[in-house]
Amino acid sequence: MNDISGNKLPKTKAVILVGGPGTRLQPLTDSIPKSLVPVLNRPFMEHTFAYLKHYGVKDIALTLNYLPDTIKDHFGDGRRFGVNLSYYIEEEPLGTAGAVKNAGEFLDNTFVVLNGDVFTDIDLADMLTFHRRNNAAATISLKWVDDTSAFGVVETDDTGRVRRFIEKPPASEATTNWINAGIYILEPDVLEMVPSNTHYMFERGLFPGLLDAGKRVFGYEFRGYWMDTGTLEYYFSLNNDLLLSKTGSPLLGKLDAATVYYESDDVDIDPSSVIIPPAIIGRGCRIGSGAVITGPAVIGPDSSLEEGASVTNAVIWDKVRIGSKARLSRCIISSGVDIAPDGDIAGCAVTPSKTKSIFIHS
Ligand code: GDD
Ligand code: MG
Repeated sequence: MNDISGNKLPKTKAVILVGGPGTRLQPLTDSIPKSLVPVLNRPFMEHTFAYLKHYGVKDIALTLNYLPDTIKDHFGDGRRFGVNLSYYIEEEPLGTAGAVKNAGEFLDNTFVVLNGDVFTDIDLADMLTFHRRNNAAATISLKWVDDTSAFGVVETDDTGRVRRFIEKPPASEATTNWINAGIYILEPDVLEMVPSNTHYMFERGLFPGLLDAGKRVFGYEFRGYWMDTGTLEYYFSLNNDLLLSKTGSPLLGKLDAATVYYESDDVDIDPSSVIIPPAIIGRGCRIGSGAVITGPAVIGPDSSLEEGASVTNAVIWDKVRIGSKARLSRCIISSGVDIAPDGDIAGCAVTPSKTKSIFIHS
C-alpha cells in the first residue's frame, strides 16, 4: 500500500454499503453479489476487511439488500477474517444514507462509511485527524479524476470546506474534477437528518441537506490509488493493477510483477507449458502441454488449460475449463465456464449462460 501511516483507529466502527445489485458488473453479478466477486482469487470484501483491519477497525456493519444470505453465509460473524461483523438487511433498498440510518443502533461514536465497491489505499488515520482538526460533522474523501460523469462532484473552498455536492451532473455543470470517492467519516448526530425506513441517499439527500443547514462538511483530498470496481472494465483494471504492482492489497501484500505466484503446491503444470508473469495460479489448477499463459493473468482454483490453449491478460475464476488450442485474451471468465477446444474469446466477460463485450482501459 502507498503512503499509509499505519496509525490505528481501534475505537472507530465502519459501515460498508453492500446493498446494490451490481448492475454494471452483470453478468458477473447475476448470481453473486459484488462483494463476493473475486479479486486475485479472493472475494472483493476480504480485501476491504484487511484494509480496515490494517487501521485497527474491526467492528464492521454490512448493510445488505441484494443476495443477503449469500453474503452472510460466506462471511458469517467475520472471525475467520479477523473482524466482528454485524448485518443490517433491508427488505427494500433504503438508499446509501437510509442503509446507514438502519444500522443506527450499531453506531455510538465518530464512524467510517465505505461504498462497498471501492478499492483504495487512502490513509484513514490521516483522514480522521483531518476530520477532527476541522471539527467536522462530515468529511468526504475526494479524488481527482479526468472524467467526472459517473461520480458525485464536490466543490470546496480554500480551507477544504465543502460548498456544493452535485451527484453525477452533466459535464457542462461539473465545475471541478474532485469527485466523491465514497469514503466518509461522520458524526452519529448527522443521522438525525436521515428519515427512518425511507429511501434516502447521502449524495442527493444528506450531503446537500447538511450544507443547506450550514453544518461543517469537509473534503479530504488524497492522491493515492482509488478504483470504483463497479463496472466490468474497472474490475478488470483492478486485477491488472494489483498484478502489475501499481497498488497493493493489505490482504496479500504488494505483489512482484516479475513473479508467477502459485497459491498451493497442489497444481499440475506440464513442463512444456509457459507462464509469463505477472500471474497467479490457484490451487488445483492443471496446465496442459504446450499451454501458454501471458500475464497479467489470474487463474482461479481448479481451473484447467488443455493442451496448446493460450491465455493472455485475463481474469479466470474457479472451475473453468479451457479446451485444447482455445485462445483467450483480455477477458473475464466466471466460475464453471467451459471454453470449447479451438474457441477464440477476446475483450469480453463470459458466464455459463452469457457473454458481454467489455471495453478494456489500457
Ligand atoms: N445497503 C445499501 N442499500 N447499499 C446500497 C444501496 C442501498 O439502497 N444503494 C447503493 N448501495 C451501495 C452499493 O452496493 C455500493 O457499494 C455503494 O452503495 C455505492 O453505490 P453505487 O451504485 O456503486 O454508486 P455509484 O458508483 O454510481 O456512485 C457512488 O460512488 C461514487 C464513487 O465510486 C456515489 O457515492 C458517487 O457520489 C461517488 O462518486
Ligand atoms: Mg460504485
